[in-house]
Amino acid sequence: MRILVITGAGVSAESGIPTFRGTDGYWRNLDPTKLATPEAFARDPSLVWDWYRERRQRIRKAQPNPAHQAIAKLALHTEGFLLLTQNVDDLHLRAGLPAEKMVQIHGDIFMTRCSRCDFQRYELEHEHEYEKQHENGDLPKCPECSALMRPGVVWFGEQLDLANIGTVENFVTSSDCDLVIVAGTTALFGYVIDWALRARGQAGQLIEVNPEETSLSQFATRSLREPAGAALPRLVNELLGNFSA
Ligand code: APR
Repeated sequence: MRILVITGAGVSAESGIPTFRGTDGYWRNLDPTKLATPEAFARDPSLVWDWYRERRQRIRKAQPNPAHQAIAKLALHTEGFLLLTQNVDDLHLRAGLPAEKMVQIHGDIFMTRCSRCDFQRYELEHEHEYEKQHENGDLPKCPECSALMRPGVVWFGEQLDLANIGTVENFVTSSDCDLVIVAGTTALFGYVIDWALRARGQAGQLIEVNPEETSLSQFATRSLREPAGAALPRLVNELLGNFSA
């Protein structure tokens, strides 16, 4: 079996992480899709950092849910497997998904990088330092060039990481998938739809897991209109029972 799984914010919703476009996504009455932009950061870096600090804290306290666990189980039982997640949280990893079988196409919320040079570092290791700066009302500065540090995620209108694109392209082009599962995403980005459709080729199945219809629904060979935490464990058990993956 060769399987591509694509996930979005809906998969972490049952862990208490608000989705971007859901009704609980607004933060201090602000639209997250407008905050996650280079323009918002240029205008008010302090506000954008406050939002990311709160999200980091919420993610640290959250636990993987049955959807993350089911995907990790599928990964461990499938040789040709890639998870392409748009989520910047670490819940897939904490559920046991091997890092080499996963691409975080929109980055990792715990990375912090310089807004000017190439310097970057993993935030969890510098948590204390950042919290102290925050209490003083300071924003993190690059130790190399003193420019403002920013969250190491991909914002709207920014380029995806080339190495990540390469990993997904390699997986998609090396041979067709028997199955593509798309769970918990509005699938608004052309590249996500493109990868899903190319990966399944002529004969692969495309299963969508989402309580709502999306722009991908018309291409799905099967739709599970349920929360991912209920649908994915059942689906994975069914798949692992049916196929010797
Ligand atoms: N199970 C499955 N799907 C769910 C659940 C659930 N429990 N709850 C909500 N959903 C679905 C919603 O119906 C919606 O289609 O999850 C989707 C969440 O959509 P978005 O908030 O748009 O998140 P996502 O598709 O991941 O956004 C993509 O856009 O904002 C940027 O970079 C950000 O990575 C993000 C990207």
